Amino acid sequence: MQLIRVKNMEEASQRVYEIFKEQLTSKKDSTLGLATGSSPIRLYELLSKSKSLDFSLVKTFNLDEYFGLSPEHPQSYHYFMFDHLFNHINIDPGNVHVPSGVGDIQSVCDQYNEMLKDNPIDLQLLGMGGNGHIGFNEPGTSFDSVTHYIELDQRTRQDNARLFFDGNIDEVPTHAITMGIANIMAAKRIVMIICGKSKAEALKKMLEEEPSVQLPASALMSHPDCIIFADDQACSLLTK
Ligand code: GLP
Repeated sequence: MQLIRVKNMEEASQRVYEIFKEQLTSKKDSTLGLATGSSPIRLYELLSKSKSLDFSLVKTFNLDEYFGLSPEHPQSYHYFMFDHLFNHINIDPGNVHVPSGVGDIQSVCDQYNEMLKDNPIDLQLLGMGGNGHIGFNEPGTSFDSVTHYIELDQRTRQDNARLFFDGNIDEVPTHAITMGIANIMAAKRIVMIICGKSKAEALKKMLEEEPSVQLPASALMSHPDCIIFADDQACSLLTK
């Protein structure tokens, strides 16, 4: 695990954009693992505006989806991905995968796990929740977990209501489908964007304490190729 300290979200996004560019140039049929939330928005804008990148052979797998939201729902992660990225690049919609937020839970999870087995992720993008979650793997999730159904923490619902859902926590679904931590760890390379004061405590625990299921992001400490881009605010509590 490598930590690269940056000034702000703009610098983090530019640095991660360079990594995506290098990945897509060296392997045209890359499989990308993608994330939602506010952390990747600027990166997706940079990828959308790039004239030189070719996504025609690229496959993508998103980390998670709210359970109970259809793909057409404006707060679904499916909608988010088309809005922020897929509608603006030359990707084949058939190569895009987001877990379904509707349907039979077990078959949604089983199918996603099968697809991930057949399509190893070359480069996985991650953000981190204020409670240390990755994807929607909330504290307590086993490091061996694969795609599963999960109840969202109250803090996660509050955080996500603040930024999305017009601030209304009652609109935020109570459950989600998420890739498990083992699925994430199987990616060949991982890049993470961690910005803002609200992430400082979790980042400190991740980097300065022993890995624990209470902090899902701490699983990444044993990944062979993981780079974290964290800004000054997120790094503000680090002592080492
Ligand atoms: C959501 C997503 C996570 C994301 C997290 C952080 O809960 N499921 O994948 O990393 O939010 O969000 P933000 O980037 O808005 O801080």
